[in-house]
Amino acid sequence: MAIGIFDSGVGGLTVYRTVAENFKELDMYYLGDTARVPYGSRSKDNIQQYSLECAKYLIDNFNIEALIVACNTASSFAVELLEETFKIPVLGVVNPGALQAVRVSKNKNIGVIGTRATVRSESYVKAINSISEDEIHVIQKPCPLFVPFVEELMLDHPATRMVAGEYLNQMVDSGIDTLILGCTHYPLLKPLMKGMFPDINIVDSSEVIVEHLKNMDIKKNEKGIRRIFVTDESPAFEKLKNILSEDIPVKRIRLEPYCG
Ligand code: DGL
Repeated sequence: MAIGIFDSGVGGLTVYRTVAENFKELDMYYLGDTARVPYGSRSKDNIQQYSLECAKYLIDNFNIEALIVACNTASSFAVELLEETFKIPVLGVVNPGALQAVRVSKNKNIGVIGTRATVRSESYVKAINSISEDEIHVIQKPCPLFVPFVEELMLDHPATRMVAGEYLNQMVDSGIDTLILGCTHYPLLKPLMKGMFPDINIVDSSEVIVEHLKNMDIKKNEKGIRRIFVTDESPAFEKLKNILSEDIPVKRIRLEPYCG
């Protein structure tokens, strides 16, 4: 079976890595829309349009049978649209993350951090409320500065630590026991956050997505072809690709406008 994975840029490589490790014989085609990153500061219309274009590229060129939206921002606005448009299974990262947070939270106080667009969409708040029968208190916080820190590989830097404190101290003091990393860049900051807040459960949907893929009846009978594509040159992509994945060459491609 061949699957496609896309993200606005490098963040989705955290999902790619976990899936690649767990499904060695699966053919995987990753697209990072590096020409238009970040999606997190865009409008719903643009996030949906970009998502349609990424999905169409992967479907038209590689005949993928399932699609993983490895971007919380695109998952927040486009999973249903993609499923309706292309009629293949589409797995976003929001529902798996929300489900895992509901499972591990004991005090029913959950924090969500993500891009401005993800927070504005309230996708996690809606997903958590639809999963849980208990009343759950969800606090959200956009953390846009984390994305450039990750792209600069400042993963354990005093400046990153200071910004993490600014963003998270108040949320942690308010009594959350679980924090959802609602952006696929953020798992690279998990060791830093775990060091700062050792008592908080940190939910990384790239880890829980494997369980959801296993339920999708994936046939592991392919050769394990791996390809990575980007829409523009990206030094951050080159650096992070080497940290996260096997050494797969990255090819630059051009996306066609999606006109329906
Ligand atoms: N990887 C994106 C996400 O998960 C964040 C980066 C962006 O703003 O495009 O939301």
